[in-house]
Amino acid sequence: MGSVPADDQTPGGHPDFDEIEVGGLIAPGTLVDRLGRPLRDLRISVTDRCNFRCRYCMPREVFGADFAFLPRSEILTFEEIERLARLFAARGVRKFRLTGGEPTLRAGLPDLVRMLKTIPGAEVAMTTNGTLLASQAPALAAAGLDRITVSLDSVDDATFRAMNDMDFPVALVLEGIEAAKAAGIAPAKINAVVRRGVNEHTLLDLARHFRGTPHIVRFIEFMDVGTTNGWKMDEVLPAAELVRMIDAEWPLEVVESAYLGEVARRYRYRDGAGEVGFITSVTQPFCGTCTRARISAEGSVYTCLFASDGVDLRGALRRGDTDEALGALIDATWRAREDRYSELRSEGTPGLKKVEMSYIGG
Ligand code: GTP
Ligand code: 5AD
Ligand code: SF4
Ligand code: SF4
Repeated sequence: MGSVPADDQTPGGHPDFDEIEVGGLIAPGTLVDRLGRPLRDLRISVTDRCNFRCRYCMPREVFGADFAFLPRSEILTFEEIERLARLFAARGVRKFRLTGGEPTLRAGLPDLVRMLKTIPGAEVAMTTNGTLLASQAPALAAAGLDRITVSLDSVDDATFRAMNDMDFPVALVLEGIEAAKAAGIAPAKINAVVRRGVNEHTLLDLARHFRGTPHIVRFIEFMDVGTTNGWKMDEVLPAAELVRMIDAEWPLEVVESAYLGEVARRYRYRDGAGEVGFITSVTQPFCGTCTRARISAEGSVYTCLFASDGVDLRGALRRGDTDEALGALIDATWRAREDRYSELRSEGTPGLKKVEMSYIGG
């Protein structure tokens, strides 16, 4: 058994934002929400379409041949996205993350990366299923994409094919990760959604596959996002259990968070073979330090992954609002924010109509 005590699986608590303010990191006048949280990350969904049908995200009974995806005219143009991104940057956002659906399905994506990289200080990352990376990585790298996260739930081919429900082979995604590395976008983060009884038996192999590489596997607790994925608490494998499983095989030690509000709890292998992370949104929520806003492909801003409604920015953009008016709308939306769904989940939120993950980009 390794070094992680059974009853303390997590790094020390985060300081709250008041302490940071005392430390001078949140400058007076910073835009904060009702719980004192600043705005730091913007996740931008560039399409609601995907070439996978992961059952926990886009089950094919719902997202079938007759599902009405957004028509092109309702999706933000790159120019509209860039304009919003600049307004968000002026309000504290430093990290932009392109999401979907599957972002690489959006034609011309490297052009958007290039446009976002002209914003001073902007870091541009992307979360992708990796299937199109082998062909797109060079152009994305040349455009300035800083980092990628690849969703990969198993390296066992049969389990992977079943989980994406499109019979996509895992080799294709592994090739994509290699292509990104060859293009200079490395290391990658590897996101694996953990479902008890579905990919549980392949998790150690996934960790083993990436041990000794610079890539970081992050195990995500299966979440009750949206209303179509049939989520049951029984299928959540608590991260603490998984930490113990991995620690028993390869002893782990805690790594402190790189920045306040980091989603994953980090550990390193004591033998020097790299790092793993755990995203514990169900068993140990992290709403207290949540600094993320999300823009859907059609231009609504959501202040929580589990929100029911967004605020329509596209309408304001297309009716010709000035930057001041648009900025005031963003300010008002963030100031009014008091979301902390994951913390409230255990108290029950029956009947909540939640937005789908594929629409809001995770
Ligand atoms: P970096 O720290 O920059 O690597 O990004 P990240 O970890 O925020 O991005 P990533 O897309 O890899 O996020 C990992 C996963 O964590 C997401 O896909 C979600 O499943 C989950 N997640 C991210 N942000 C939130 C959040 O605000 N709330 C909840 N409940 N889950 C989140
Ligand atoms: N629970 C946890 N993670 C999920 N993702 C998609 N749906 C869920 C869910 N229900 C993950 C994807 C991807 C990221 C955007 O969110 O696998 O890595
Ligand atoms: Fe597509 Fe990602 Fe959803 Fe899977 S989790 S269906 S890859 S958007
Ligand atoms: Fe942020 Fe909402 Fe996730 Fe909590 S549940 S961490 S408030 S997105």
